[in-house]
Amino acid sequence: MSTRELRLILLGPPGVGKGTQGRKLAQTFAIPEIATGDIFRNAMKARTPMGLAAKSYVDSGNLVPDDVTIGLVEERLAGSDAQRGFILDGFPRTAAQATALDALMHKSSQRLDAVIEINVQSPEVVRRLTGRRLCAICQTPYHNDSAPPAVPDVCDRCGGVLVVRSDDDEATVLTRLAEYERKTSPLISYYRAAGLLKVVDGNGDVEAVFRRILSAIQSPVSPVA
Ligand code: AP5
Repeated sequence: MSTRELRLILLGPPGVGKGTQGRKLAQTFAIPEIATGDIFRNAMKARTPMGLAAKSYVDSGNLVPDDVTIGLVEERLAGSDAQRGFILDGFPRTAAQATALDALMHKSSQRLDAVIEINVQSPEVVRRLTGRRLCAICQTPYHNDSAPPAVPDVCDRCGGVLVVRSDDDEATVLTRLAEYERKTSPLISYYRAAGLLKVVDGNGDVEAVFRRILSAIQSPVSPVA
């Protein structure tokens, strides 16, 4: 386990492995993984007002409105466990969210260390999403072929039952990919211009991708194009 401070964003389309890698990074650096998708799904399950407001967007593969999402991340980043750092998985996803995060970092005199863009080709992304199973309790992702649990349908970490995510059907996956292209992919040039972007090949097994991310975190930022 490392004790260094680290403020990282994981960027990339649905299914590239942000959640899988985010959990490993959080464990390695002993900082929280803040995954907006997990927060929405937990709120939907608990039927909180935020969960009820988010449900139609999440189920249809569209982005939840910025004001809801920014408010929840602001609140979460103020938590005492996030003061030494955090792994943001799935936030920011729009220009307005990126601007709000910049303002928040400025206000709290903190700085982002890097934005890791994970790259995987579309056919592999669809294969990963259509074979995904998720723990209904702790939301750890598994895959039928490439990351099966030790005991079928049971989470290795907490013993919860594994389920299929409501937005992992093919039609909704296509909507999510289109949302990413239209609203989130412009952030790649935004963070490249800010000198924070590091691009990592997300192909290969989970450990190989993890080693690439660790090495990207250690290396100097690539020159701005
Ligand atoms: P969210 O939960 O963030 O979904 P996503 O971005 O679509 O990403 P995924 O969770 O689908 O994929 P991932 O990259 O984490 O991949 P994973 O590690 O699971 O968001 C869901 C919804 O919430 C959004 O559509 C939106 O409605 C709302 N939302 C969330 N954030 C928002 C925001 N900021 N603003 C507005 N709305 C927001 O891996 C996928 C599969 O591949 C798994 O089965 C895994 O086991 C497998 N796998 C992982 N790595 C590998 C590997 N190297 N090799 C083989 N298999 C692998």
